[in-house]
Amino acid sequence: VGERPLSIVVFGATGDLAKKKTFPALFKLYTEGLLPANVNIIGYARSEVTDILAFRKKFIAYFPGKGKECHVDHFLARIAYVQGSYDDPADFAKLDAFLRNLEENTKGNRLYYLALPPTAFVGACTGISKAAMIPEEYGWVRVIVEKPFGRDLATSNELSHQLSQLLKEKQIFRIDHYLGKEMVQNIVTLRFANRAFAALWNANNIANVQITFKEKIGTEGRGGYFDNFGIIRDVIQNHLTQILALVAMEKPRSLSAEDIRDEKVEVLRCVEPVSLENCIIGQYTANEAMPGYLEDPTVPKGSNCPTFALMKLKINNDRWRNVPFYIKAGKALESKAVRIRIQFHEEVRPFLNRTQRNELVICAQPTEAMYMKITTKTPGLGKELIDTHQTELDLTYHNRYAVSLPDAYESLISEAVGGNSTNFVRSDELEAAWAIFTPLLHSIDKGEVKPLPYQAGSRGPAEADAMLAAEYRRNEGYQWESKM
Ligand code: BG6
Repeated sequence: VGERPLSIVVFGATGDLAKKKTFPALFKLYTEGLLPANVNIIGYARSEVTDILAFRKKFIAYFPGKGKECHVDHFLARIAYVQGSYDDPADFAKLDAFLRNLEENTKGNRLYYLALPPTAFVGACTGISKAAMIPEEYGWVRVIVEKPFGRDLATSNELSHQLSQLLKEKQIFRIDHYLGKEMVQNIVTLRFANRAFAALWNANNIANVQITFKEKIGTEGRGGYFDNFGIIRDVIQNHLTQILALVAMEKPRSLSAEDIRDEKVEVLRCVEPVSLENCIIGQYTANEAMPGYLEDPTVPKGSNCPTFALMKLKINNDRWRNVPFYIKAGKALESKAVRIRIQFHEEVRPFLNRTQRNELVICAQPTEAMYMKITTKTPGLGKELIDTHQTELDLTYHNRYAVSLPDAYESLISEAVGGNSTNFVRSDELEAAWAIFTPLLHSIDKGEVKPLPYQAGSRGPAEADAMLAAEYRRNEGYQWESKM
């Protein structure tokens, strides 16, 4: 990573995200030797911290990795704290002086991590750009920002515009933590490094694509936050749309960050804005174990907020003519999983109706795996060619690889330190993604469409399964088991 000193400033250092994600990821990178030896980590927040040892100690419970205990004290010793506001450049000047002192006025790099609510983004970036920059020849400045990036196309564009007045686009690293997941990062390799997939990846062969996000938990304790957003803003406009872009984009000219992101923008611009008739929204009701969404005391009475959505997207280009892309996401469902299903058309002759559709399934979580459903002759004496059944070619990661997979935040922070922005969201990508959902979101916000009730712990509203069944062929007799 080079020998220049690196300062990592975590804004919002006393908050939950910093405690649960940012500091643990930094710890892991430190133990793996992926941060420069002369790194300093500076927590910054509004609260006063009188006891730095107690401040540092709060993170320990969240540190990953057994056997890494010997690094804890060394790591904690590198953490300092600076108190300040997010709207007063004078506080940023104070921070700057503190950093210069650590950098011993030599050349140094700075990574600013904004683990902040959106209301503080612009203030913090203003402070950074006015008072805490360093000249380019002395080192780089990069700023990691966390969602939400606006609530719709107009507010997101406004935020992008404001940030563009303060920082260069190449300095802004918008995190979408799904882009740090191993199986999401693998999509480009799978598609473009394998002839068998590259050649089949189009409307001639693919019947439909499904990108599914399911969580068992509801919005307990986060109802107040969630209600302001809803499932479409929370995971669809960002995480699942990023996956869609990777699954659907054209082959990039090279593996450079800009070439890959150019292709993602290009395909997102071909996606038609979702219409109401192509979308089903739902809201969960109670079961024996869990109160319903509206029973959460932090949720406003009678809220119209969707906790489930299924939508059918249309991509207007030659590769995807007439291929529906379904995005499905829900809280309080029957299982926890993130999956991508690429379902191929069936072969007809000479097996007539004895073949099943091939399907490539990429499981991003909870188990990293990918498998291809194929039809084979049932093995054994007396079985004829027509005696077929469906089975799979299976790549379950923990069976095949001994490596422990990093947390998404570890990957992304390490990429930001290395200056690789491939897996960060560029402002034009963000704009193209918001354009797809904004008309629908406005209709929902105005109450023009009501969520259908579904019981917590179910598959979601029955209407959603019915909508999928129009295109997606489910083979009831087939079950893939993750091989532990
Ligand atoms: C976050 C959403 O961005 O992603 C949460 O705000 C969601 O509602 C989470 O639970 C899911 O992330 P992961 O990595 O646990 O799948």
